[in-house]
Amino acid sequence: MKAYVLYFSPTGGTKKVLDVLISAWDCEKKYIDLANSKESFVNISFNNGDICIVAVPTFSGRVPQFIIPKLRKLHGNGIKAMLITTYGNRAFDDTLLEIKDTMEAGGFVCNCAVAAVSRHSVLPKYGEGRPDERDIGELKNFSVKCKEVMSKQFGSLDVSGNKPYRKYVSIPIKPKGRKQCINCGLCYQKCPVHAISFDNYRVCDKKACISCLHCVYVCPKKARYVNPVVLRIAELIMRKRCSGRKENILFLPR
Ligand SMILES: Cc1cc2nc3c(=O)[nH]c(=O)nc-3n(C[C@H](O)[C@H](O)[C@H](O)COP(=O)(O)O)c2cc1C
Repeated sequence: MKAYVLYFSPTGGTKKVLDVLISAWDCEKKYIDLANSKESFVNISFNNGDICIVAVPTFSGRVPQFIIPKLRKLHGNGIKAMLITTYGNRAFDDTLLEIKDTMEAGGFVCNCAVAAVSRHSVLPKYGEGRPDERDIGELKNFSVKCKEVMSKQFGSLDVSGNKPYRKYVSIPIKPKGRKQCINCGLCYQKCPVHAISFDNYRVCDKKACISCLHCVYVCPKKARYVNPVVLRIAELIMRKRCSGRKENILFLPR
């Protein structure tokens, strides 16, 4: 048995949550970064007994849209899947439902799902410090339960969410490079949607950019930034919706 772990974690929170959630499994794990444009996804073939784990952050209550065509290339052939989303203390809305629908269409049997809070990557004041110790304990517990469920046969899984899915809204937060940029090109190589100009790494195509902030996260010189005034305004707009401690939720089959 092998666990295929497909993940997108532009600023590291999803990966942190994912690592705890799969800690109960001691089988061989193959990690596939959904942001890696060199991975074609068509050659991934699953054997009977393998499991597939998909972990993505919520963007606008949805799956970051560039991921959907990649997941559609997979053929599950009846293997079991665990679905994970992280969210920045507002809500995950239709994210799990969207992953579940996509995976089921590709022949996976979705057995369990988790929505977990992780620091808001754009507005880090919200969900600050999460996952914290209390979360880690809870997520370890979820991991054990998910492993148990995936080793048995169960009925269908219901996750929260509605159809039609919430409208995907792009946010006007687009990082730029500043003079500390040493032209190493890492941001250009790692951008999951190729929004950074090859001719000038400091320039980003605002239409293509999904505001994931992966370029800010990987920059070795901290040369990429987001306009602080725009951030402050966004923080104020989101204050009510992102306040209070939001919960981690485990979905198990009926
Ligand atoms: C473009 C964008 C949209 C987001 N939309 C939401 C949202 O609708 N609800 C929410 O709670 N968090 C939202 N977040 C926060 C992320 O889901 C959260 O911080 C996630 O854990 C980031 O994962 P990462 O650390 O792996 O990048 C959004 C973040 C970005 C970049």
